[in-house]
Amino acid sequence: MPTESFEIAAAIHFDEPAPGITRAVISTPLAEAEVYLQGAHVARWQPRGQDPVLFMSSKSLFAPGKAIRGGVPVIFPWFGARSDGKPGPAHGFARTMPWKVESTRLTSSGEVELTLVLAPDACQARFQVVVGASLTMSLEVRNLSPDPFTYEEALHSYFIVSDVHQTSVTGLTGTTLIDKTDGLQRKLQSAEPIRFTKETDQVHLNTAATCVIHDPVTGRSIHVGKTGSLSTIVWNPWSEKAASMADMGTGEWEHFVCVESGNAADNAVTLAPGGSHTLTTFISLQR
Ligand code: BG6
Repeated sequence: MPTESFEIAAAIHFDEPAPGITRAVISTPLAEAEVYLQGAHVARWQPRGQDPVLFMSSKSLFAPGKAIRGGVPVIFPWFGARSDGKPGPAHGFARTMPWKVESTRLTSSGEVELTLVLAPDACQARFQVVVGASLTMSLEVRNLSPDPFTYEEALHSYFIVSDVHQTSVTGLTGTTLIDKTDGLQRKLQSAEPIRFTKETDQVHLNTAATCVIHDPVTGRSIHVGKTGSLSTIVWNPWSEKAASMADMGTGEWEHFVCVESGNAADNAVTLAPGGSHTLTTFISLQR
């Protein structure tokens, strides 16, 4: 079905900001947002009367088959490098695949609900985003094969902060984390908030907790709640790695942190034939 048939006047329309790239543009009294069909990628969310929440690199590519740098990449069916020895792109193929619109809806409370589907051979992924004064994103995976299916996933959210040096993240006290900057060593997260003083790349395991990103410059805090997720990944590339990333604008690494709701490493999900699992993350602002 053509995307125009999913448009809702004064709520959601589709455009083509670059050749071969389709985008849903959402604008309501509650919020503005943009979602790219490639990767089911939420690239922008700005609740009405607030500053934008999701970071987007000024050098991000928006081209068929290329990952978008910023917003919320959908990581599936593996996190980071593929671990089973087979070839495949970092963080899986979902973020560079074209997804299809399944439905759009304006809820009775004025939120826009957009559902996208990806159906590779043996599994089906369904991504639903609900755009309003808060942002809810769900990734449902269904195993259509006759065999068990094991996968990793993450909603790799990039959040704007005024200054990464002054930012802290709370909610992960006491978790075991895999430190990807230190030979994958397992460490215990102390009671101190996470602060950013160098490259940070941590997979926190077995945690269902809500995290809060504190921005003392604006006084804004971003709450990242979740269900169906036992891993939280905290990432900032810092200066050197950011400088090596062709799609990252100069100095922009100081203005975002990633707090990703997912299921990775020990928390990979295994689905029985016909089984399904849903990961949901709830983003909201507080002052
Ligand atoms: C994070 C990973 O989730 O994503 C990091 O933990 C990785 O190791 C980062 O560098 C960005 O990945 P990519 O593939 O988008 O450059």
